[in-house]
Amino acid sequence: MTTLCLIPGDGVGQEVIPAAARVLAAVLPAAHLVQAEAGWACFSRTGTALPAATLAAVAAADATLFGATQSPSTVVAGYHSPILALRKHFDLYANLRPTAALPGARSFDLLLVRENSEGLYSGRERLEDADTAIAERVITRRASERIAHVAFAQARARARRGLPARVTVVHKANVLKLSDGLFRTACLDVAAQYPDVATEEMLVDAAAMWLVKEPARFAVLVTTNLFGDILSDLAAGLAGGLGVAPSANLGAGGVAVFEPVHGSAPDIAGRGIANPIGAILSAALLLEHVQQATAAARVRRAVQGVLAADCLPPDLGGSATTDQVTAAILQRLEETA
Ligand code: NAI
Ligand code: MG
Repeated sequence: MTTLCLIPGDGVGQEVIPAAARVLAAVLPAAHLVQAEAGWACFSRTGTALPAATLAAVAAADATLFGATQSPSTVVAGYHSPILALRKHFDLYANLRPTAALPGARSFDLLLVRENSEGLYSGRERLEDADTAIAERVITRRASERIAHVAFAQARARARRGLPARVTVVHKANVLKLSDGLFRTACLDVAAQYPDVATEEMLVDAAAMWLVKEPARFAVLVTTNLFGDILSDLAAGLAGGLGVAPSANLGAGGVAVFEPVHGSAPDIAGRGIANPIGAILSAALLLEHVQQATAAARVRRAVQGVLAADCLPPDLGGSATTDQVTAAILQRLEETA
């Protein structure tokens, strides 16, 4: 039996994860859904943002669906962002962020593969003196090669679905000659092992421009941590915004955590209007991961159908509530059962 761990977290996580859970239960009724807690509310109540019981539930599950948690922008003793802690604890080094056009918009279908474990998010920040702060940007050959392998393997898998077999290596090696020079070389070395996949490279600033101007020219992009964080939100913006953007966090240890790209959205939390599609498309990625590709395709078709029928939540310009969007998706799933 498939065991799935659900971590709603804070804010709209408490609204979109129950919505996605209903979709999972509809397409995979035999799955065992386990709830676990994490986040700011959990920290305020228990003194820990990521309880040991949650780590155990994630380790035991076939896959995890994570909502969002709220993190303060200042240092709070004892508080660590649960999603960053999960990525670190389970070495979830690959962050996959697929972005495709919404129905009716100009067409594109790209996958951003973001290195998740080092780069500028290595946590090596220090104050040199009161007026000088330094952040170290760590790039290793090992991490660069393993993320490149993920990107090329994904390009191969996408080619089997009829998408272009192409990887764009995004870097800034013209300025960061040592660090991004190493990332670039490592990616190009890995590329040689995938002769069936075309490889190109692009400087990150040019990539930002081309993503806006002509997103359809991209298939798979692979890049370092911070560049990937920024470019994937840019790509999400091309496809309707944060409310619809899904992501996957994968590692070598078999643990996989899927999450909408958005955060806890405190400005709209509790009003029942959060867009559940980012969470539901994350559930579709999860289904693919647990070898339920047919169920994943059904979910995607149902989402596309609901969007095409203009059942849109406020962030997409409509007035449908979280419940109404979810009910419309469930209805379509029933019709295609
Ligand atoms: P955010 O993603 O929560 O919100 C940004 C904007 O997008 C807001 O206007 C929000 O209303 C909108 N939005 C987000 N999700 C939406 C949805 N499902 N439907 C409709 N609109 C949606 O980012 P923000 O405001 O920068 O951060 C808020 C909190 O979330 C912070 O405490 C931050 O630390 C946390 N956060 C957590 C993440 C995670 O758990 N993985 C990721 C990003 C932020
Ligand atoms: Mg981000």
